[in-house]
Amino acid sequence: MNDAAPRAHKLDYPKFKYHFSEFIGIGNNGHLWVDGCDVYDLVRKYGSPLHVFSENQFRHNYRKFRDGFRAHYPNTQILFANKSNNGLAMRHIMNQEGAGGDCFGYNEMYIALMAGTDPRTLVLNGSNKEPEEIELAVANGVCINVDAMDELDMVHATAKRLGRAIDVGIRVKLELPALEKRFGRGVHSGAMSEIVWREKWGMPYEQAVEITKRVRSEMSNLLHLKELHFHLSRLDNQAKDFGVMAGEMAEWAAQLRDDTGWVAPYIDLGGGWTFGRKEKTGVQDGIDDESVSSYEEYGAAVAAAVIAECKKRNFPLPGLKIEPGRAISGKAGISVGRVGAIKDWSKKSYKWVNVDLSGNHVPWITIPHRYHIVPVNKADQKTVEKVFIVGPLCTHDVLGRDRDMPKLERGDYIALLDTGAYAESTSANFNAQFRPATVLVSGGEADVTTERERLSDVMGRFRVPPRLLAGSFAAR
Ligand SMILES: Cc1ncc(COP(=O)(O)O)c(C=O)c1O
Repeated sequence: MNDAAPRAHKLDYPKFKYHFSEFIGIGNNGHLWVDGCDVYDLVRKYGSPLHVFSENQFRHNYRKFRDGFRAHYPNTQILFANKSNNGLAMRHIMNQEGAGGDCFGYNEMYIALMAGTDPRTLVLNGSNKEPEEIELAVANGVCINVDAMDELDMVHATAKRLGRAIDVGIRVKLELPALEKRFGRGVHSGAMSEIVWREKWGMPYEQAVEITKRVRSEMSNLLHLKELHFHLSRLDNQAKDFGVMAGEMAEWAAQLRDDTGWVAPYIDLGGGWTFGRKEKTGVQDGIDDESVSSYEEYGAAVAAAVIAECKKRNFPLPGLKIEPGRAISGKAGISVGRVGAIKDWSKKSYKWVNVDLSGNHVPWITIPHRYHIVPVNKADQKTVEKVFIVGPLCTHDVLGRDRDMPKLERGDYIALLDTGAYAESTSANFNAQFRPATVLVSGGEADVTTERERLSDVMGRFRVPPRLLAGSFAAR
């Protein structure tokens, strides 16, 4: 179960000359290392481009996040947002740590179940759930966060047909008047309260009341109301905004009790929790630096707001569920590319360093999103110039602009940091590119956890109707 003590996987922290994070840094030989593995050796063995993921960084991040919340609010369950990294091995690691999971759609739920995740620790989210995913959730006992009025009837009918009782939550659309003057940064623009309102997820208060009343009066033998759910998303990186959201969730829970008699056992606050680094990362030109709230600050802000609101409304403290994705998986991964052609246009002082890693492999660069870039085999060399690091796609495919680099040459390698979240899980095949392999590192061990794509993976789905074959070849 989610609150069970984590299995004892001991974390042995490496010592680097320079640390980018606990398990990623510059080793004594001047190369980039992930835990006990030299990235230069890994990429020459497993090929380029390559995603490298640190098991121990992943575990470390999870523990820090969990402890940051539980220090202030002991009854907190962490549900890893599987969408941020759907690797089967990653899900096994989260299971071993005692994490639950947020699933979006049939396949994410299927992968989590295939990895042996306890279904009682999963939730199913989504604004338009298909009958098959509702059936998979009901059959396996995964809590469904209802996100449409008629979805409630679909869930009830499925539970009836399968003869299985099921936990349900209600995904709400908070009003957040206190965030009317707070502006979303990065992907979303506009006032935070307005962004939430125009997004397609969640139901307004009146509908939450109706759902609650219907479940309690017509469906209570099969549907058990378990949680109120909301996801603020990555609108900002400051704990105080998440505190406002958490306080309003507690307020809505108390108001729902007054209006319907239902006492929500859990409030689920979704994801969007950020991490920063001094080298900068994140949307736009890297808004996430050292000023980003720490996990402890997020935990403290959320706990203070929920406790204060519950006290004010005389509402029993609910359990908390939190669905972090990038805060746990982001920093655990890097993506490596090999340097090819170098194009120097000194007239305008432009220099392009072409690599085989592309926007297909780290699609967030188009948001745009800044990743810090490290020259793998020249990581401790003095920087001598500013260059554009560019991928091979026929779009402009810029992975980094004006990056300070040592003199890079064909055959060198560079690595983008913090690609453990939403790189592999959002990658594409534009220009018929293959998606890279992923290697999972633990200490000095490395194992392939995602195979590199082959021609059959890219071509294998294509079909040519016989009439076209005839038309193409008959005249020859
Ligand atoms: C419902 C829900 N929970 C959790 C997450 C994870 O967000 P993040 O990776 O920013 O923590 C998302 C992301 O879209 C989401 O939609």
